[in-house]
Amino acid sequence: NLGPDVVDIRSFSKTGMFTFDPGFLATASCESKITFIDGDAGQLYYRGYPIEQLAEKSDYLETCYLLMYGELPNTEQRKEFETTITRHTMVHDQITRFFNGFRRDAHPMAMMVGVVGALSAFYQDSLDIANPEHRKVAMYRLISKIPTIAAMCFRYSIGAPFMYPKNNLSYSANFMHMMFATPCEDYEPNPILVRALDRILILHADHEQNASTSTVRLAGSSGANPFACIAAGIACLWGPAHGGANEAVLKMLDEIGDESNIEEFIQGVKDKRYRLMGFGHRVYKNLDPRASIMRETCYEVLKELGLENDPKLKLAMRLEKIALEDQYFVERKLYPNVDFYSGIVLKALGIPVSMFTVIFALARTVGWISHWNEMISDPQQKIGRPRQLYTGEQRRDYVGMDQR
Ligand code: ACO
Repeated sequence: NLGPDVVDIRSFSKTGMFTFDPGFLATASCESKITFIDGDAGQLYYRGYPIEQLAEKSDYLETCYLLMYGELPNTEQRKEFETTITRHTMVHDQITRFFNGFRRDAHPMAMMVGVVGALSAFYQDSLDIANPEHRKVAMYRLISKIPTIAAMCFRYSIGAPFMYPKNNLSYSANFMHMMFATPCEDYEPNPILVRALDRILILHADHEQNASTSTVRLAGSSGANPFACIAAGIACLWGPAHGGANEAVLKMLDEIGDESNIEEFIQGVKDKRYRLMGFGHRVYKNLDPRASIMRETCYEVLKELGLENDPKLKLAMRLEKIALEDQYFVERKLYPNVDFYSGIVLKALGIPVSMFTVIFALARTVGWISHWNEMISDPQQKIGRPRQLYTGEQRRDYVGMDQR
């Protein structure tokens, strides 16, 4: 009904064929050999290895190698990888000064986005992404330096001096050292707590095309450098529907306060006033396999620390039980995800709530960078450019100020 002279500009977006799939519920954006999720069965595999086996038998650095190269390393490869990662743990001294520009009360994720993006100003060889050697060095630099930067974000926020990495420690123990040691006092990492942190890192290392990994791929598809792409991934991860969920779980448990309030809380979820954080997943329509491992790790850590009767753990377990038996959650296939218990574990390790998403970013860096490298190495790779359905105004003529 637009009349003969008016062009229907909306029709331009309807020329050709494309799918309209908001939220990418049924659209694969790429091929990948890295991670497979069977959401209906509740299974997760890195390069074909079940997550349960990796969490039990492997460690984070070996898992990094597997995700990056597709195979588990032999003894020699493992040693060389470890030595290289260890050699890159320091950051340029000017980065320490970069921190001074931030407010002390800045959120650690805000600092992470800035500092990781700024790494490209220090390592300019990373701008040449066509060179596989430069790509490899950038990947190593990221895996090595992210824990150092993450610990710096924490220490800056509490006004404590930065701690140098201690390279004779394992990856996870070194991170705990940089977080908790002081120049006056050594930090003796407890092996059970270190193992728990390492397991958290393994469980969060990759999860195929989640929002932040897709962001890294999309940013990288334009040829942007790897540090800028990982900074984009960190920014995306920050949201409460993604990496901020474990922080939100603890906040929720605080708000519920006591088991006697669970029923009222659940009613609020059903009335859609808020969500049960740490529950539900876009892909898993069954128990998230990482959630069971995390629950077990949670018991181990609290037992080691003599906190088996921790009221938060008790409240979480009760809440989980009630939700799993409730029709609302059953019908919608809402089960606990990895973040339902990871917040309790991180808190028990002494990691402050504001650092939870930072730990997630630390762990996921290897997944992001492996996907980025897989994409760049593909000779058929194209810039990512989704289409849209235009629903705005029809063509209209400019109206002068005196006629508006
Ligand atoms: N609590 C209550 N109801 C929920 C929840 C929840 N946590 N998650 C989904 N639902 C309900 C929705 O209200 C909707 O109900 P309806 O059909 O009556 O409208 C139905 O389940 C489907 O929900 P969607 O939003 O369409 O599911 P989607 O796949 O888009 O969402 C998400 C997935 C974002 C993870 C969601 O489950 C959620 O918000 N969970 C809480 C946040 C969380 O724990 N995030 C961590 C994810 S894991 C990770 O990032 C490592």
